Amino acid sequence: MKTIFVLNGPNLNALGKREPGIYGGKTLADIEADCQTAAAALGLAVDFRQTNHEGVLVDWIHEAGENAAGIVLNAGAYTHTSIALQDAIRAVSPLPVAEVHLSNIHAREAFRHKSMVAPVAVGMICGFGPLGYTLALQALAARL
Ligand code: DQA
Repeated sequence: MKTIFVLNGPNLNALGKREPGIYGGKTLADIEADCQTAAAALGLAVDFRQTNHEGVLVDWIHEAGENAAGIVLNAGAYTHTSIALQDAIRAVSPLPVAEVHLSNIHAREAFRHKSMVAPVAVGMICGFGPLGYTLALQALAARL
């Protein structure tokens, strides 16, 4: 069975209590449960992780290059700043990366409009809340 790494960056461990007007009331554990259900229906395995540390995300992307068939990535604020994440994704090319954001980053502050991940992702889903993770898994399954 193919495994998809679902990687979550900084502050996403606080979902549920973090700015619920923007990010909703679901916790990251709720989203993981959604991902496991969606993956089972698609015949995929999910390895779901969260870290607040940029270098750990880099390490996990490298690990995915060895052990995963694709990545769903919500890099949180590192999305907007991290050349290291873009380079890591380039380093595991052609491993497909689906970028996800709970909020519509283009409807928010200007500094969120730029994504360092987008140029190296197969696509981006943003603004649909936790459903975005399920949609990203479906998109990767269709591609694989
Ligand atoms: C986010 C959007 C980012 O701009 C923000 O820094 C986050 C969450 C989202 O899922 O909407 O931490 O990636």
